[in-house]
Amino acid sequence: MDFARLAAERHSVRRYQPGLTINDAELQAIFHLVQLSPSSFNLQHWRFVVVRDAARKRELRGLSFGQQQVEDCAAVVLVCGRLDAHEDAASLYAHAPAELREKFVPMVAGVYAGQTGLQREEAIRSGALAAMSLMYAAKETGWDSGPMIGFDAAKVGALLALPATLLPVMMVTLGKALDGLQPARLFRRPLSEIVHLESAQGATLADRQRP
Ligand SMILES: Cc1cc2nc3c(=O)[nH]c(=O)nc-3n(C[C@H](O)[C@H](O)[C@H](O)COP(=O)(O)O)c2cc1C
Repeated sequence: MDFARLAAERHSVRRYQPGLTINDAELQAIFHLVQLSPSSFNLQHWRFVVVRDAARKRELRGLSFGQQQVEDCAAVVLVCGRLDAHEDAASLYAHAPAELREKFVPMVAGVYAGQTGLQREEAIRSGALAAMSLMYAAKETGWDSGPMIGFDAAKVGALLALPATLLPVMMVTLGKALDGLQPARLFRRPLSEIVHLESAQGATLADRQRP
């Protein structure tokens, strides 16, 4: 599917065909695309916890204000971000040419060591980019998705045994939308409101007819 169509056809799905399963090969096809996402210093802060077990999805639904899609989907993916990803710079850059390694390993330490606020921002930034990739990769491979932050992060973290260094960024449900229940595209603010040229106070980009 070309990107224009992918972007147009991705919706946040809340009504899935219940009882569908997604197998390891299908997850591999999705996550091989997701792992190409960008991250600061290529630290790849993301980690994913995939829940397919029906009883566990039911428990997650209970921790998500009862949102039905959490139980009906084929898989719930908890997208997480590592707070300590910078500590792996040496092993990550072991794969890189020496000149990159010598430049970036000390730079990563200098930027992130002790900077808990920045570590948290990066975990969320990288996790959010990966979550977007996940939704497009799912669509590309025939699956619908829905991002969610409406859940009790502390309880979900405990249920899924997250270590303290792993921050829940968002849930993404994966499944197939019930026929005819694709939500309508919600209102989007016009380009003339959201895109400023040259500075935040600059002129805005004119709207054109969508292709
Ligand atoms: C970070 C984030 C959290 C969201 N949390 C929820 C949620 O808990 N429940 C839900 O039904 N939709 C949730 N959504 C979906 C949004 O409502 C949806 O993206 C938005 O209305 C635009 O619709 P669209 O994704 O179909 O274009 C969330 C989206 C994002 C990006």
